[in-house]
Amino acid sequence: MTVLVITNQKGGVGKTTTAISLGAALVGAGQRVLIVDLDPQGNATSGLGVGKEPPNPIYGVLLKEQPLTDSIASTALDRLDLVASGPDMAGAEVELVPMLAREYRLRQALRGASAYDTVIIDCPPSLGLLTINALTAGDAVLIPVQCEYYALEGLAQLLKTIAAVHDRLNDRLEVLGIVLTMEDRRNRLSLQVIDEVRRHFPTLVTRARIPRTVRLAEAPSHGIPISLYEPHSPASQAYDDLARELLARLHKTEPLVVGGAIA
Ligand SMILES: Nc1ncnc2c1ncn2[C@@H]1O[C@H](COP(=O)(O)OP(=O)(O)O)[C@@H](O)[C@H]1O
Ligand SMILES: [Mg+2]
Repeated sequence: MTVLVITNQKGGVGKTTTAISLGAALVGAGQRVLIVDLDPQGNATSGLGVGKEPPNPIYGVLLKEQPLTDSIASTALDRLDLVASGPDMAGAEVELVPMLAREYRLRQALRGASAYDTVIIDCPPSLGLLTINALTAGDAVLIPVQCEYYALEGLAQLLKTIAAVHDRLNDRLEVLGIVLTMEDRRNRLSLQVIDEVRRHFPTLVTRARIPRTVRLAEAPSHGIPISLYEPHSPASQAYDDLARELLARLHKTEPLVVGGAIA
């Protein structure tokens, strides 16, 4: 079982879209996949057509030691399952603070996920305790970066946080890749951003890039991943390519990039 953490403290960069679409692509590649929605906004939950009414499964898992196996919902795609989130997760960040082994709660819980090939954790847009829990539970990190001006902003801080978790809490953790999202091929700015991110992180940027397309924005309103909504679209193809590339990378481990990597 591999735990893949999708994180970037910036909001709106494509974390949730990538969690769902990549999860579905891995299912297409024959895997059993569990998506853990760690964001109080619960976008992965609604995007997979699962309700957000209380009690909130991920809250129960993290704060009430509810067994993971009792907290799993199925989705429209066979072999793609979900631990749902919802608004009552908003307090979790604060409620975790006084808890024993507060950084390890998700890692403990994921011992119950051995039936899956990959667990994908969709992080909230912050570097608080929820994201630290995800990184502590993780084997690999995937960072979506939007093809727009200021794309690199915040990445140094994110990589420092990852390095700190690697050194203090979880030495298995590695950065698997940076995936460029919302690429607009007609826009020169997209090209410049791609060049710049590649210059800073030559080995980390994945070959697969995700095009900007309204199809990816529409699919969640139908509660299904892009691979079901529009299986032959360039976006679905791009996530299939990303899945293949990440699986290949996982089997020949890339070195961990530390915070100093950005000049
Ligand atoms: N490749 C894309 N093309 C077009 N819209 C996208 C794409 N990726 C994400 N979006 C849209 O952009 C918004 C933010 O994406 P989301 O995945 O929710 O980001 P995050 O989880 O990082 O906040 C959402 O409305 C989503 O539907
Ligand atoms: Mg999100």
